[in-house]
Amino acid sequence: MNAKLLMKTARSLMADGKGLLAMDESDPTCNKRFEKLGIRQTVETRRAYRELIVTTPRLGESISGAILYDDTIRQITKDGILLVEVLNHAGIIPGIKVDSGADEMAGHPGEKITIGLDRLRERLAEYAGLGARFAKWRAVITIGEGLPSCACIHANAHALARYAALCQEAGLVPIVEPEVLMDGSHSLKRCCEVTENIIRAVFNEFYDQRVMIEGIILKPNMILPGLRCSTQESVSEVADATVMCLMRVVPAAVPGIAFLSGGQPGEQASARLNAMNVRFRSRLPWPLSFSFARAIQQPAMQIWRGDDRNIKAAQEALLHRANCNLAARRGEYTTAMEKS
Ligand code: 13P
Repeated sequence: MNAKLLMKTARSLMADGKGLLAMDESDPTCNKRFEKLGIRQTVETRRAYRELIVTTPRLGESISGAILYDDTIRQITKDGILLVEVLNHAGIIPGIKVDSGADEMAGHPGEKITIGLDRLRERLAEYAGLGARFAKWRAVITIGEGLPSCACIHANAHALARYAALCQEAGLVPIVEPEVLMDGSHSLKRCCEVTENIIRAVFNEFYDQRVMIEGIILKPNMILPGLRCSTQESVSEVADATVMCLMRVVPAAVPGIAFLSGGQPGEQASARLNAMNVRFRSRLPWPLSFSFARAIQQPAMQIWRGDDRNIKAAQEALLHRANCNLAARRGEYTTAMEKS
């Protein structure tokens, strides 16, 4: 394992107050989002949309790394340039999603186990050859009546550690994403308990499986009440609960934490990340950053709608959200930024 290379990549992903852009939606997920907006669901529309994202002028000023999907890492712009090259030219590190999605977990109705470990070593070598320098794996944890089960937590943590160890062997920084979903009527406190459990299980597996803690990025959910919970805490309460939860379970040696947005509206995700940095930044052992998909992309996709005439406006919207999150990382985001 090349520990120095891994630490250098992880540091670069966290450098200069920037964050990550997840643009690694699988074909079915991307198609679902396109369908809602009346965008045709073809290989070409998906490629054109990804080209729109990576060619956004000045994106590299706020985005340090972009997570691609298997087809995107091989695709070219209409001018024949690999999207990976466009990213490198913009100073954005290319990464790749390597899990194969979350399957129903046998014997555990309502729960999922992420698959994709078979032949992962070979796939990682191929992706490294295509220019990826980091990789992502997402585990999905559902809160519900009697859920999550110990088996679901354990199986997903085990798979995350096996994936992370293989990534490090291949010289790719693993972005470790145990996502506790927002769906449901659970309280913020319950989200905190479950998030603590899964993250603790992940680090226990890391120790057992010899994953180098200094060479990973953790991508957790924020601590939020379920979408159907009658009590919805304020921005500062969410910030406090999230930081307190992470302080309990994330080793100080971790080089960075980059949150997923999980379906929060973009402005809310920025405000919550900002509050964490305003209130705690100087006291934390790790930088708190972002690795958002929907909370950066959604307005741009809505403006684009598959029409070339909207590319410029869509890119402006994308850059705006990326810049809002850059400000949030520094604790300098204000709602006035949204009006300008
Ligand atoms: P969201 O920010 O839309 O939750 O996506 C992040 C991600 O990468 C999911 O795997």
